[in-house]
Formats: sequence, structure tokens, C-alpha cells
Amino acid sequence: AMQARLKKTVVLVGMMGAGKTAVGKALAAALHAPFLDSDAEIEKAANMTIPEIFARDGEPFFRLKERQVISRLLENERGVLSTGGGAYMAPENREIISKKGVAVWLNADLDLLWSRVRHKDTRPLLRVPDPLGALTKLYNERVPVYATADLTVVSQPGLSIDAMASRVIEA
Ligand code: S3P
Repeated sequence: AMQARLKKTVVLVGMMGAGKTAVGKALAAALHAPFLDSDAEIEKAANMTIPEIFARDGEPFFRLKERQVISRLLENERGVLSTGGGAYMAPENREIISKKGVAVWLNADLDLLWSRVRHKDTRPLLRVPDPLGALTKLYNERVPVYATADLTVVSQPGLSIDAMASRVIEA
């Protein structure tokens, strides 16, 4: 088992439904490292859910909180950090992630992402008349940016969470 202290935080980036939280938890357990989750930290600090924050305060406020949380987590701890799908789009986040972390893109194709998010109601950006259209647009805008991450691990249907975590470790 790997027990050496991490030199850098492993930062999981990628679309909603890519498995960042599930794989992050498994990876943290395998590395005996703390698991950090930017969305969960934002919810805890606000004492509101993400949809509530978007509805009450708007997306720009959420993005501000997201930047603050990501910088705090990266400054203070080393572990495995799962980010929200939009986090890596902010240049400020990419900069601190490149300094303090290793960015790993969990790359899943649109069909797989859609199959995982379509029945959930937890993503405000998909609470629109055409959620598949919205997901597709975000996917097309974001993939070129995710592709600049340090490492890419492909998420495929049928690959277990632990198998994905192993692939991240191998990468
Ligand atoms: C978002 C993804 C969500 C959450 C928020 C915005 C995005 O996180 O941060 O709803 O912009 O893609 P997940 O990627 O964990 O769903």
C-alpha cells in the first residue's frame, strides 16, 4: 500500500457525472490521504445546498466561493480534492492547482455523463428545458480546457470506482 505523504494534492477535474467525488473518495482511501471536496465545503460553509446557493445568490457568487474554497484547501492540506465541474474553467483556479496540485482529468464521453446525470436534480446548470443540450454545450466548451490537465484518465462504462482509482494511481 502507498502511504508516503503526498507532495501535492491530487485534484480531480472534469464534467458533472465523470465520477470525481466517487473516484476521489476511493483514491483518498487507497492513498491514506484526506478526501477534500470543493462542492461539499461550499455547502457546509453556506449551510445551503448548491441549488439553493445558485437560486438565492446566483452563479457568480457560487464561483467566488468556489475559488475561495479551492485556494484554502490547496494552501492548507494535501490530499485528494474533488472539484465541481466548472472549477477548472477559472484561470485563477488552474493557476493555484498547477502550483499546489496535480490536475487529473476524469474524461468520460457525453453518453456516459448524460446517463449518470439525467435522473438527478442536484445540478442547477441542468435545471433547464433542454438539459442534454445544456450538458452538450458545457462539454464542448470545457473539454479543451480539461485537456490541459497534467494527467488524463478515461472513465468507461463498466469500469468500477476502484478500478478508476487504480488508474489514477498508475497515471
Ligand atoms: C457544476 C458542477 C457541479 C457543481 C455546480 C456547477 C458545473 O459539481 O459545482 O452545480 O459548473 O459543472 P459536479 O461536477 O460535482 O456535479
